[in-house]
Amino acid sequence: MKIGIVGAGAVGSTAAFALINQGIGSEIVLVDHNAALSEAQHLDLLHATPYCHPLRVRCGGFGDLQDCALVILAAGVSQAPGETRLQLLARNAAVFRSIVPPIVQAAPGAILLVATNPLDIMTHVAMRLSGLPPGRVIGTGTLLDSARFRALLAERLGVAALSVHAQVLGEHGDSEVLVWSGAQVAGLPLQRFAALQGVRLDDTAMAEIDADVRGAAYRIIEGKGATCYGIAAALAMLARCVLFDEKRVLTVSSHWHDIDGVPDVTLSMPVQVGADGGAFHVPPALSETEQLALAASARVIRDALAALGY
Ligand code: LAC
Repeated sequence: MKIGIVGAGAVGSTAAFALINQGIGSEIVLVDHNAALSEAQHLDLLHATPYCHPLRVRCGGFGDLQDCALVILAAGVSQAPGETRLQLLARNAAVFRSIVPPIVQAAPGAILLVATNPLDIMTHVAMRLSGLPPGRVIGTGTLLDSARFRALLAERLGVAALSVHAQVLGEHGDSEVLVWSGAQVAGLPLQRFAALQGVRLDDTAMAEIDADVRGAAYRIIEGKGATCYGIAAALAMLARCVLFDEKRVLTVSSHWHDIDGVPDVTLSMPVQVGADGGAFHVPPALSETEQLALAASARVIRDALAALGY
């Protein structure tokens, strides 16, 4: 599978390295408005292939995306310390207006996978600008936040994160919703497993975990300027889902006609991801509190889209 990555910065290049490390795909094409950067990333990544998997790595222009089955959109500005994702809206919408049409022209059959923030709004913008069916345009969404939620729970409970099933839904941002009611470990409700482990997951502990998930990106950006490993791992996992038509149900950002009365909105909900992108939606079981928080999160995105003219 030929994979295009538009945006050769921290997220795009780390995603490329994850693909090479895991042997996902057969060819990677890097495209960036900064040709010197994409050339340097291309060479650096090429030098990794002898000790990883023999993927072909190239850099070029939009025309080189021809026949890509998947194109990752990681172009745009990223958060400065303390900046919210929504504050990137106008600048990155302008970037997408310049990159989405040539991407679709070069690779009309590709699945578009958005990683640029504000993620849900940019996924919606990419969908509208591309004219592709909604399922063919998805975003990493709260896949990264769900990973953070699972990793933090796993640490507290002394269990592998792979055994923790926990979802974050809604905006990939400050209004996201941690779904505590549905969290499970090894098929047991969270609190029941915690009791088995002798771990108290009281309101204080839950509030700490919520704050750590919601604030993770800010902390990382404050310390190292950008996040890249978690998002790159999510992108590689999604690429594998598309490549092998894995049909995993994942909290990715995709278009919904209505969420609790909020129309025409793109946000993270459970979606089955496979070769056709994110076509099958799985409405989640939520507590009343979670349902209200999800509607509020959908409203944040709808209002941001309206401000942009969508
Ligand atoms: C984060 C950025 C990718 O949450 O939005 O790390």
